[in-house]
Amino acid sequence: MSDGTTPRPYRSYVYAYPHKTAYRPLPAPAPSLAALWRDEPKDALSLYAHIPFCEVRCGFCNLFTRIGAPDELTTRYLDALDRQAAAVREALGDRDPVRFATAAFGGGTPTFLTAAELERLCDIAEKRTGVDLRAVPLSVETSPATATADRLALLAERGATRLSIGVQSFVEAEARAAVRPQRRADVESALGRIRDTGVPVLNIDLIYGIDGQTEETWRSSLDAALAWRPEELYLYPLYVRPLTGLGRISPAADREWDERRLRLYRYGRDRLLDHGYEQVSMRMFRRTDAAPLGPDDYACQTDGMIGLGCGARSYTSALHYSFDYAVDMREIRSIIDAYTETEDFSRAEVGRWVDAGEARRRHLLQSLLQAAGMPVAGYEERFGSSPFADFPGELGRFESLGWLDEGAPEGLLRLSPEGLAHSDGLGPELFSPSVRAAMAAYEPK
Ligand SMILES: C[S@@+](CC[C@H](N)C(=O)[O-])C[C@H]1O[C@@H](n2cnc3c(N)ncnc32)[C@H](O)[C@@H]1O
Ligand code: SF4
Repeated sequence: MSDGTTPRPYRSYVYAYPHKTAYRPLPAPAPSLAALWRDEPKDALSLYAHIPFCEVRCGFCNLFTRIGAPDELTTRYLDALDRQAAAVREALGDRDPVRFATAAFGGGTPTFLTAAELERLCDIAEKRTGVDLRAVPLSVETSPATATADRLALLAERGATRLSIGVQSFVEAEARAAVRPQRRADVESALGRIRDTGVPVLNIDLIYGIDGQTEETWRSSLDAALAWRPEELYLYPLYVRPLTGLGRISPAADREWDERRLRLYRYGRDRLLDHGYEQVSMRMFRRTDAAPLGPDDYACQTDGMIGLGCGARSYTSALHYSFDYAVDMREIRSIIDAYTETEDFSRAEVGRWVDAGEARRRHLLQSLLQAAGMPVAGYEERFGSSPFADFPGELGRFESLGWLDEGAPEGLLRLSPEGLAHSDGLGPELFSPSVRAAMAAYEPK
């Protein structure tokens, strides 16, 4: 039940559970991919390729990415990705048919690669893993400076169904404050080039909570985005993390900033709801008249994820695994260099085992954080127990905080609007003690 305290609304963005900071080097002998995948379902896999390169390092960004990659490094990187893809395909074996349901290229900025390199990336994905990129939803992230006509045309031709561009703010002073210098005119022309491709889904990322941002300037960014009638919009609350550009100069989060972000969130949500969008999760909004083409959030919600590249995670039902991870530029460089020198990709090196208890938490977390909520029967069918019996303390507390929708239809566990607004405070409360301890012990580097 409630301990009387309302948790901070912005603790962490739960886009995957367990978080990568809970992964650890796996003790020797590291498990072979062949053993890990042997008994896994392989008929609806997701493919994710991670490109850890950008033109600039934005002040807010703690993603695994580096700047200033010379041509020979991107070539070496794709060479390694090719070797890794071949090793993964071999590990999947021939016993069961291998089929992919979705694909995504993320980063970093995949369109940092040239059109010819993007072509090679598509070839590697198709020839090595067997995915047919034109037959599955394919989402690709891009940025204003790298969304050039030749790259976008290549991606459209190879089957991209969704192009997602980080704009963050249409207000130049805010972009500067977020240490993401960009000209409004360049953003608008990149959006024009994306629309010219005819790729069916355009997603625009915006950030709220930037220094100097007010409701008026937030509205002007929202309206500038809405003018493009994007099929999807992601509204991200600004986080300032250790070792990022902003983390080095900004004071730690305080109550006033929390309140300001909550106000801007509500403002943005209401504006999008008034303009023909539905809310899918705290961050994601979809135009109600746009045909859904793929998963709501390709950021790895399911088991059966094949991640390629050195920042990508892979998921089997029992193990989530990846490579080493860092935020600091020097560390990132050395991890990428080590990846490009790797010859043997047949084992999982860093990861976290997901037992039955963690699988329950993961299911609850990832469905409860969707605006549509979680059908209780689906949970019961999968786990043979009730979520109310498995998580009495957590769900009781959410209820007492007014975070559960009391008017939800029978059999549906759904967040109230306030619960959804507090997704980033509520999610971490569902982390297990051992995941929490591992995350707390993780030393940012
Ligand atoms: C991989 S990036 C998008 C593609 C491309 N690299 C770009 O920046 O244009 C993913 C998105 O996460 C969001 N993001 C990253 N770090 C964030 C932070 N610290 N606070 C809020 N949003 C953040 C940004 O909106 C960003 O566009
Ligand atoms: S926000 Fe995008 S462009 Fe900026 S550093 Fe992060 S991944 Fe790169």
